[in-house]
Amino acid sequence: MTTVTPTDTQTKPAQRLFIPGPTDVLPDVLAAQTAPMIGHRSDEFESLFAKVEKQLQELFFTQNRVYIVAASGSGLHEAAIRNGVRGRVLNFVNGAFGQRWHQVSLGCDKEAIRVDVTWNTAVKPEIVAEALEKALADGPVDAITVVHNETSTGVMSPVGEIAAVVREISPETLVMVDAVSSFAGVKIPVDEWGLDICLTSSQKALALPPGLAFCAVSDRVLARAETVKGRGWYFDFLNLEKSLQKSTTPATPAISLMRALSVQLDHIFAEGLEARFARHARLAQKAQRWAVERGFELAAEEGYRSHTVTNVANTRNISIKELNRHLATQDMQISNGYGIFKDKAFRLAHMGEVTDQDMDRLFAAMDAYLARQGQ
Ligand SMILES: Cc1ncc(COP(=O)(O)O)c(C=O)c1O
Repeated sequence: MTTVTPTDTQTKPAQRLFIPGPTDVLPDVLAAQTAPMIGHRSDEFESLFAKVEKQLQELFFTQNRVYIVAASGSGLHEAAIRNGVRGRVLNFVNGAFGQRWHQVSLGCDKEAIRVDVTWNTAVKPEIVAEALEKALADGPVDAITVVHNETSTGVMSPVGEIAAVVREISPETLVMVDAVSSFAGVKIPVDEWGLDICLTSSQKALALPPGLAFCAVSDRVLARAETVKGRGWYFDFLNLEKSLQKSTTPATPAISLMRALSVQLDHIFAEGLEARFARHARLAQKAQRWAVERGFELAAEEGYRSHTVTNVANTRNISIKELNRHLATQDMQISNGYGIFKDKAFRLAHMGEVTDQDMDRLFAAMDAYLARQGQ
């Protein structure tokens, strides 16, 4: 059965990018960027800012502030560490982006303790509890970092349960979550789960061009920031907070991108948040089913599979390069496995404005390629 979503009813071009970001952007969202410039210290800008701020709070399910910065998600990895960590931070690493956050922590000269978790598996509350208790034996831990949706492996970790465990063991430890490739595709109730920082960027399930990043920040983080030295300036939350009170940003904002954001947020709310999350979950099921029915295995741990990117083990040993060449003839693209999984896996992303019909078109093209290979 094909399901029609609100995005089908506008003239949405067929999806081209089945890679985990950047994703395709709707034409009117792209067009919003071409409006003439305005000054950022103007009433017009402040009302644009106030509108998107309110919508973002709703999308993060938070009463906390959401900072909007002209940066990619990695910028907010750095902001989180610079503002929330005085001394020690535990970085959970079950993929490439957890690893990046660890490197960022080291780069900010913090005492960063790396906790490795097998790739393709989730960071689980019991793993966090054990590592945190062990680290606490040597002194306080200012924060833990964890990636909600590891784009490199297609694994989603239960960050709500993780936050609960951290609160129980060490209430003063801040919980910092990277939701770069799940936000706006998967429900993340920031306040209910007690996430101190939840960060994301524009080019994934939000279906915007790259260049903006967003982060919900708790009062606890601001209180901590007041005690942290070396917060820098661009990402200093205390600076961002002062400007936010006036519906603006300390430095010149990416006005064109914020216009695009405003249009896209309207699309997201028109679809309905629950419908959007359900669509992503359904497309993940569809991708998993396709892979298994074609004789592939799923690389990500069962029970923790991502709703936005499906990681398929290349158990049929197909050429992913050739497959992508074939897909390119129909203006489509998928992703190879990440890093050491190159050619050993491939990733099908279904995030943003992807519809059932888009997935059917992709699978038809992939099936044609497999048939031609006689595989
Ligand atoms: C889970 C995750 N975290 C962080 C990043 C880095 O984000 P950005 O490329 O926006 O800096 C990515 C990028 O793919 C990601 O997938």
